[in-house]
Amino acid sequence: MREGVAEVGIAEDGGEKPGAVPKIRRAVCPGSFDPVTNGHLDIIGRAADLYDEVVVAVLINKTKSSLFSVEERLSLLTECTGKYGNVRVDSFHGLLVDYCRSNQIPVIVKGLRAVSDFDYELQMAQMNRGLAGIDTLFMPTNPEYSFLASSLVKEIATYGGEVGSLVPALVHERLLARIEENNRGGGSN
Ligand code: PNS
Repeated sequence: MREGVAEVGIAEDGGEKPGAVPKIRRAVCPGSFDPVTNGHLDIIGRAADLYDEVVVAVLINKTKSSLFSVEERLSLLTECTGKYGNVRVDSFHGLLVDYCRSNQIPVIVKGLRAVSDFDYELQMAQMNRGLAGIDTLFMPTNPEYSFLASSLVKEIATYGGEVGSLVPALVHERLLARIEENNRGGGSN
């Protein structure tokens, strides 16, 4: 194993010693997922084709206001990713690399929508690799979703715009219900 490289994942030669317990190739798709969109699911589904197990990890960020609570986001993600079979959903706080190390996850998978995403994502990827030897795999977003962001979906839906083609039906339903609740005077999360 090279110095600075996370000691998790498959053997360096790609093979396994006879009698050894097979190692699980695991990756994480981290994010806020407030709420999960079809763009997120495209990346999660493609990561699920590449890895034995994909963990979708929701950042618990108490300083950022959100439309859905962490529990609600986890529940939506669980329902939307159930079809993949090898995807599980979790939450984390603190540094992503610490979460990766505690859960034997050597790879972060990130979708790149456009060049504008690249600068910040590269900075984070290099920092995460420097901090803990955790690598980042950039996956180009399906062009169909290159304009898609949870923040835009929320804004458009809040002002009555149609977002049904941008999020799964279940998310659409809960999004409209939450916006209606908030308009009636209910709080946000
Ligand atoms: O969906 P988002 O909000 O763009 O996701 C950003 C996220 C959660 C992937 C990123 O903010 C993150 O990894 N936060 C955890 C804190 C951390 O590790 N910060 C150092 C990054 S180098």
